[in-house]
Amino acid sequence: MSQSPKISNQTKRWQEMDAAHHLHPYSEHHALAKKGARVITHAEGVYLYDSEGARMIDGMAGLWCVNVGYGRPELAEAGAKALKELPYYNSFFQTTNPYVAELSEKLSTLTPDGLDRFFFANSGSEANDSAVKMIRYFWNLQGKPHKKTIISRIQAYHGVTMAAASLSGIPSMHPQADLPLPGFVHIDYPYWYALGGDSDVGEFGLKVARALEDRILELGADNVAAFFAEPVQGAGGLVIPPETYWPEIQRICKKYDVLLHVDEVICGFGRTGNWFGSHTYDIQPDSMSMAKGMTSGYQPLSAVALGPRMGDVLFNANEEWSHGFTYSGHPVACAVALANIEVLERDKLVEKAGGEIGAYFQQRLASLNDHLIIGETRGVGLLGAMEIVKDKKTRERFGDATGGLCRDHCTTSGIVMRAIGNTMVLSPPLSITKPEIDELFEKAREAFDLTAHDLGAS
Ligand SMILES: Cc1ncc(COP(=O)(O)O)c(C=O)c1O
Repeated sequence: MSQSPKISNQTKRWQEMDAAHHLHPYSEHHALAKKGARVITHAEGVYLYDSEGARMIDGMAGLWCVNVGYGRPELAEAGAKALKELPYYNSFFQTTNPYVAELSEKLSTLTPDGLDRFFFANSGSEANDSAVKMIRYFWNLQGKPHKKTIISRIQAYHGVTMAAASLSGIPSMHPQADLPLPGFVHIDYPYWYALGGDSDVGEFGLKVARALEDRILELGADNVAAFFAEPVQGAGGLVIPPETYWPEIQRICKKYDVLLHVDEVICGFGRTGNWFGSHTYDIQPDSMSMAKGMTSGYQPLSAVALGPRMGDVLFNANEEWSHGFTYSGHPVACAVALANIEVLERDKLVEKAGGEIGAYFQQRLASLNDHLIIGETRGVGLLGAMEIVKDKKTRERFGDATGGLCRDHCTTSGIVMRAIGNTMVLSPPLSITKPEIDELFEKAREAFDLTAHDLGAS
């Protein structure tokens, strides 16, 4: 999708208002203002449309979230009904609402066994901040106030609030706000393609998992509260863990009595081919955060789920819990989440992501391995990554700007694909069809051809 050099007056007006007054997330403000943001006006199925009428296939489901695809009337109607009946009421004053009660019960049937109690927030970051407070409170209630340090991973992405950004391990996220806060440490992550060299993948998975044990021993198990991780690292480069990784991590957490918190903000609600990444990787977490796919992004909503160990202790504490958001359990967001889950179930979108559609997506992804500049493809469910390299054998990279160059060619070809360094990433709506998958990968190949040509590799 290329924006025509002559844009309409309406588009120009929106761009000018936006440039003058809107600070965008993760953007170099003045550069974007100068260029003018693309104005997305509507969306349907897997397609986005801009104010100039150009269409593009959304290979990222927004920000890994529009699992049921765009334009679902069921979600809009459920939201409108709740807006009319109960647009807002809080759950602070010994009150609840039908939507949050029903959603809590429904979620308890979908999450791994035992994760039956839910606290609601509005974003993945808030869910993770809340989880940090819950973990600290749990150990305080257990009479172990020294168990406070949380271990997460390099290149982890857990959000942007102070604690969530401290949990995150992407180096650029820290210096601008003097982070991480004390009590957050980061260990290696299981990115075999970049860090594993010639080692066996399984051996590498074990070695990286054992970095957790080393760090626990170094800090002293009495000082370590939890290990915090995504089942598949998303924004940090789509890192698919070797099969050996999660069993070893769980063994270590059990051995040293370290809580395991799993961040399912991307992996939840079908992305990896099961309801949760914890199902895909056979993880039994103590607590879990979720957001994005819970409403398919139609409304802001997130949650922390607690298993029996943490849930029982927090539930039975003989004092008021000093935490909660104005919009916790918002009726409209919960109504939309219920409708979203109904669509996921009715259209068997999770089964399809773990079955026929996921398999077809993975097959088309793997077919890019023959491309001159693709060193590895990897994926699970409806997640896919492609590594751009100069030399397939040595894994030598082109310059840092390569991912951005390829992403721009994707945009021109009419697809949204994300660049994370030199790794290109796909995470389309779970509702994508086989012909749409064909279109996605045909256009991706076109973009890789153009990138190779620009780099002098073709
Ligand atoms: C795994 C993970 N956790 C947390 C977050 C933060 O969510 P939010 O942007 O809703 O605060 C994200 C966002 O991409 C994420 O990918």
